Amino acid sequence: MASSLAGRVAVVSGAARGIGDAIAERLIADGARVFSLDKVAAEEPRKDVAYLEADVTDPVSVAQAFKAIDARAGQIDILVNNAGIQRVGLVGKISFADFSAVVSTHLNGFFLCASEAVPRMAARGKGGAIVSIASTAAFVGLPGRGAYCAAKAGILGLTRALALEVASVGIRVNAVAPGFTRTKLIDQGLADGSLQEDWMVARVPMKRLAATQEIANAVRYLAGDEASYVTGQTIIVDGGWTIQGIPHAPEWLQSPPAE
Ligand SMILES: NC(=O)c1ccc[n+]([C@@H]2O[C@H](COP(=O)([O-])OP(=O)(O)OC[C@H]3O[C@@H](n4cnc5c(N)ncnc54)[C@H](O)[C@@H]3O)[C@@H](O)[C@H]2O)c1
Repeated sequence: MASSLAGRVAVVSGAARGIGDAIAERLIADGARVFSLDKVAAEEPRKDVAYLEADVTDPVSVAQAFKAIDARAGQIDILVNNAGIQRVGLVGKISFADFSAVVSTHLNGFFLCASEAVPRMAARGKGGAIVSIASTAAFVGLPGRGAYCAAKAGILGLTRALALEVASVGIRVNAVAPGFTRTKLIDQGLADGSLQEDWMVARVPMKRLAATQEIANAVRYLAGDEASYVTGQTIIVDGGWTIQGIPHAPEWLQSPPAE
């Protein structure tokens, strides 16, 4: 059984829907008090989540949200950097505005939220856990998704650097890298034709997309005391997608040995 998160306050960016909503649900289930920072209203608000309107790319908006959490909770134990967007386009064609929006949401968002959370965690002296949602795109190239690949790889770099900066005060900094997970982000790619479900599933050794709860379970592990000596790491949750060299053993290797 997982340890309790009772008495801990978690901030989850982008928890209005999708993976962030599943993370909020999972943390609440184990006793945490959860604040969501999102620029849109929750699609199906959870009664135990405090929804704050905030844009993680905007330092003023992020600072205001953390001040509101100070007033309402007075502490932060867990920060989950989950807010994300997708813009597709080849280099030479994608606009600078779209490229910057992707990098800013994922990477600046992590930086800005961590810049608010770290001093508060350190001042309180009870450690803390920061978990950021990267992607398999941090490890492989996806043509047309250069901004996303760069931003997600950047998240892993910042994760490792920050982990070293704050290890001595008991703050752990880790990442979760999901594979294809059925959310609005993926629906957008299916709708614009940049993704196709048949080839997405065909390349996953486990032959299915992830459920949002399967990503949330990895976040929950890294956020809690079970991961008390784990820092600077990334858990890949992708059904075997990134470790695939060839898809399966040839038929002749699979036939039963001759008597
Ligand atoms: N769905 C997948 O297959 C997949 C795979 C790998 C990684 N991820 C990552 O998981 C995270 C969550 O994605 P999702 O699939 O749940 O997408 P989603 O679009 O369903 O949810 C993303 C949430 O982030 C919020 N958000 C976007 N920009 C914001 C901003 N500037 N400030 C505050 N909130 C903002 C959105 O409003 C939305 O509620 C993202 O970081 C995404 O890159 C998703």
